[in-house]
Amino acid sequence: MGTSHEGFGCHNGRMMEGSGLAGRRVLLHVCGGIAAVKVPSLITALRQEGAEVRVAMTAAATSFISPLALQALSGHPVAHPGRGGAGSESGMPHVDLAQWAEAHLVVPATASTIARLACGLADDIVSATLLASRDPLLLAPAMETGMWESPATQANLQTLRGRGAHLVGPASGRLASGHVGMGRMAEPGEIVEAARLLLEPGRELQGVVVLVTAGGTREPIDPVRYLGNRSSGRMGTELARAALRRGAEVHLVTAAALPEQLPGGELVPVETASQMLDACLERLPRTRLLVMAAAVADYRLAKPFEQKLHRAEHEALDLHLEPNPDLLQELVARRPEGLRVVGFAAETEDVRSRGRDKLRRKGCDLLVANPVAGPRSAMGGDWSEAVVLYPDGREVELPWSPKSLIAGRILDLAAELLSSPGDGSEAS
Ligand SMILES: Cc1cc2nc3c(=O)[nH]c(=O)nc-3n(C[C@H](O)[C@H](O)[C@H](O)COP(=O)(O)O)c2cc1C
Repeated sequence: MGTSHEGFGCHNGRMMEGSGLAGRRVLLHVCGGIAAVKVPSLITALRQEGAEVRVAMTAAATSFISPLALQALSGHPVAHPGRGGAGSESGMPHVDLAQWAEAHLVVPATASTIARLACGLADDIVSATLLASRDPLLLAPAMETGMWESPATQANLQTLRGRGAHLVGPASGRLASGHVGMGRMAEPGEIVEAARLLLEPGRELQGVVVLVTAGGTREPIDPVRYLGNRSSGRMGTELARAALRRGAEVHLVTAAALPEQLPGGELVPVETASQMLDACLERLPRTRLLVMAAAVADYRLAKPFEQKLHRAEHEALDLHLEPNPDLLQELVARRPEGLRVVGFAAETEDVRSRGRDKLRRKGCDLLVANPVAGPRSAMGGDWSEAVVLYPDGREVELPWSPKSLIAGRILDLAAELLSSPGDGSEAS
């Protein structure tokens, strides 16, 4: 029983060779934030990975770092407003650059550029190129905590995510102002890793039917109240998106209170565990890969109140709960031939051993165990860490990273299962 500890391919600070960036054309869009001073290290790291890098800058960015420095480091002239169409073969640099690039990295992504992209403006070389492109887009936001937490910024990011943009960071830490808080840009190594994962996915799930569950189920107490949990549905949504990027036919059954769009896949909103089970059972016969990321309530009210409860009518309230169906168990018991099942365990303590216990009891092919207590809780936020457990004792560590990256890695591991011998029924 071997135990391997794999991360995202970063060992001793060096990226693994053949990491997927070799020969890939990456366009860096640099915006006007102090974190622009990290762009030289990022260009160097990307080029060390074998990527070809070109740079476009906003006018504000040129006040933070010189285009000449980025030209020297990238080995190509830099597009920026002061340069107009100079150097462009067609005289239309935004069209040339959009055609040239295979992926776009906005680093640092300022609040202002994020807003312009969400609105679809095309008032400089960065926004015009991004508007003209349909290639993968990765944003590395960096800004003061207030700007980051502003409802406007969060709504703009939600819009961009809904259109398929990926985020790396920000992290919490010391900001340029000296304050400590959310808004620090991801480190260049993390951005390189995110770019690698963005460009790497093949079409290994082409045509495979993938069923993903997401979000925390809501069990009614009365017509307006429910028993719920802190799950946002983000991990399940990222898993569904990662499956779509790999060519799968994706069905996302989500109990998230505010489900995000899933362009290209089927979104099935549900509320309760029973509804989730029904939606899954309906789709199970065609499914080849079942990914159970939802936080399903273990209990529900035996008899929800028909009318809204009023404090004046009940001095104290005892709620009688009964167990919900065990979705994972029910679905594994009915698994069609060839189905592979990825389960999740969210634990506040003994994450590994409880995960192993669940893996054994439920008969999954893989179990993703993640902590949901402490500063690195997987619940609610955009980042997570996890350990993927195999029935044969193997383990794969997924270090603290954006959920979009964790999701991509889980899908890679699940895709390996589908291509390995066995029909999965041995686990039931
Ligand atoms: C010293 C300084 C630092 C700044 N740092 C940031 C930052 O980290 N993030 C951000 O969103 N805006 C920052 N700003 C504000 C942007 O520079 C400003 O919104 C600008 O219009 C952004 O333009 P761009 O998005 O086109 O690059 C900073 C401004 C100054 C003067």
